[in-house]
Amino acid sequence: MDMFRRTFAEVNLDHVAHNFEVLKAAFPNTSFLCPMVKANAYGHGDVAIALCLQQAGARHLGVCLIEEALLLRRGGVTANILVFRGFDREGAEQLLANNLTPVVSTWDQLEALEEMAKTPVKIHLKFNTGMNRLGFSIEEAEKLFDKCWRHPKIQVEGVLTHLFNGEDADELDGDSADQLGKLLRILLVFKPLNPLNHSLNSAGILNALIVREQKNPQHILNQVQWGLRPGLMVYGFNPLKRQDILPLKPVMTLKSVASTYRMLKVGEVVSYGGTWKAKRDSVVAIVPIGYADGYHRILSNKAEVLFNGYKVPVVGTICMDFLMVDVTDAIHGCDLNDLRDKEIILFGKSDQGQFISAEELAHRAQTITWEILTSVGERVPRVYVGDWAKRLGVAN
Ligand SMILES: Cc1ncc(COP(=O)(O)O)c(C=O)c1O
Repeated sequence: MDMFRRTFAEVNLDHVAHNFEVLKAAFPNTSFLCPMVKANAYGHGDVAIALCLQQAGARHLGVCLIEEALLLRRGGVTANILVFRGFDREGAEQLLANNLTPVVSTWDQLEALEEMAKTPVKIHLKFNTGMNRLGFSIEEAEKLFDKCWRHPKIQVEGVLTHLFNGEDADELDGDSADQLGKLLRILLVFKPLNPLNHSLNSAGILNALIVREQKNPQHILNQVQWGLRPGLMVYGFNPLKRQDILPLKPVMTLKSVASTYRMLKVGEVVSYGGTWKAKRDSVVAIVPIGYADGYHRILSNKAEVLFNGYKVPVVGTICMDFLMVDVTDAIHGCDLNDLRDKEIILFGKSDQGQFISAEELAHRAQTITWEILTSVGERVPRVYVGDWAKRLGVAN
């Protein structure tokens, strides 16, 4: 891999396998487990992550786009791939030709498959239970069942919904309990077809473990084996306040280097707009990563990075290709020549064990962890590490 700029995202596949293993161990009886690898596997590199999960035992994988599914197929992924976004007739042709599993949300989609499928096709039916984005309405369940019952070509393998507030799934009568109650009623309609069901995202899954601990038989999460569609947690993050539920390991470390140093006199400014002025004589390191690489500009003068065993502040406005950090307190009379190309960690763990979480960065950037991870730019190489990377032949 060409890497003339030493900025990259280190992706630890052992951590992916670990996160998947702890999840499987927590739900040994689940009938449906579909890690989500959409959006380039949340920025981690979809083919490598999908191959890793497949090898670790994932039978289903979830993507948004047909394009994403085709990339996985071309990369050698043979697991069932559920395509969630929906499709038109052209898309239906690709789904059928590449043995992809359509998640069907409209009558048009159902009819396209019906007309074009030459052999029976397995589908998953998506219902809108409150998110109001995709899916059939609950009222359409009976009509859909009548249509699919004994259909020569359409086989309903799964019935699903998506939680819009999985964070409240531990509550007895929160939004999630309401949505799951609706899905339960839909499942009753489809009972003669005995479909798989799925609904729980990371927040729902982790809440299911909390509720299991509480042993309340009244709670809807304790009444059914709900199928699982983990996304964020596969990549090592727990979106709930309570953090001690599963020992997840963050997968990505975003790295760069201090490529040059500038000695600033008190009163001098740095970067566009001069938004940071040295209050003392300072040493500022120039780091070759910017907002075009997904390090959000809103983090200007707000974030910290790891350098030489210290947390040091990002100073001045983040540029398209560069950012600057004030390393004055982190160099301790070191010879700057010895610190040339010294590693900078934007998020993740340093060799010294210090850690900046993508979640913390998300708070500072007024966004969510999902966006921090999926923002990591296309021009940032993904470097796969760990025994799993070697085993899969993707180690750099
Ligand atoms: C349909 C669907 N299922 C599951 C997930 C996984 O969600 P999370 O990353 O919160 O686990 C997503 C993510 O947006 C999704 O769109």
